[in-house]
This record gives sequence, structure tokens and C-alpha cells, in this order.
Amino acid sequence: MSLLDDAKAVRVHAHAPYSGFKVGAAIRSASGAVFTGVNVENAAYPEGTCAEAGAIAAMVAAGETRIAEVAVVGDAPEPVTPCGGCRQKLAEFAPPGTQVTMANLQGDERVMTIEALLPHAFAKAQMEG
Ligand code: THU
Repeated sequence: MSLLDDAKAVRVHAHAPYSGFKVGAAIRSASGAVFTGVNVENAAYPEGTCAEAGAIAAMVAAGETRIAEVAVVGDAPEPVTPCGGCRQKLAEFAPPGTQVTMANLQGDERVMTIEALLPHAFAKAQMEG
């Protein structure tokens, strides 16, 4: 089963009663473990969280802080791209060169590196004077 298959499998559990747009994300960490997440919307709309954020939280809670690969999927005309905030969240743990696979349910796929998705990302090094 590919990482994208993991993202597709978890996507069905998304809680998206407001947008109706279910997203699944899967992260393979440096150890090879896979962590998944879904978007979890809330009646107080800004409190909702993205699928990528859920997968990152699961990875960090398991004691891992290095992303090796990412997959994101939703039911859209084009492969679903991570939102701006999620690009920053992923960049915190994904070194340059990390591949992010974006997909839809029709089988369209796009693969980009994290630095192509978020050029000139703000990072810890910039706070080190
Ligand atoms: N969403 C994600 O979970 N990840 C993305 O990268 C794009 C957007 C969710 C947030 C919200 O629940 C729904 O998709 C519509 O924006």
C-alpha cells in the first residue's frame, strides 16, 4: 500500500460537515512509520483543522520530528494542494527535497518538493541573528 493509499483510506473519516470537502493526509517519518490525519471542522469555523495538521500532530506525539514523505488527497478537479499554513507546518519537519504527493480521487497526481511548494520558508535559522 502506497502512502497515497493511506491518505485515501483515512480521508473517509474526515469531519467536514460545513465545507463538504474531505481531505486525507499521510506522512512517512524518517523511521518509516506512517501517520495519518483528516480535516476536522467545527461549528466555530476558524477552529477547524487541516488533514496535514492532524498527521503532523500524530507524528510528533509518537516522538518523531522528521518527515520523509507526504501525501494529500481530496475529491477535487485537480490534485489537492496543501494550504499555505500547512506548507509552513510541513516545512517545520520536512527537510528540503521532501516529496509531497498531491492527488484527487480520479487518479490525477502531482509531486512537488516542500521547497517548491513553500519557497523561502520562514525557519528557526532566521531567528538566530
Ligand atoms: N483542507 C485540508 O484539510 N488540507 C488542505 O491542504 C486544504 C484544505 C481542508 C480544510 C477545510 O476543512 C476544507 O479542506 C475546506 O477548506
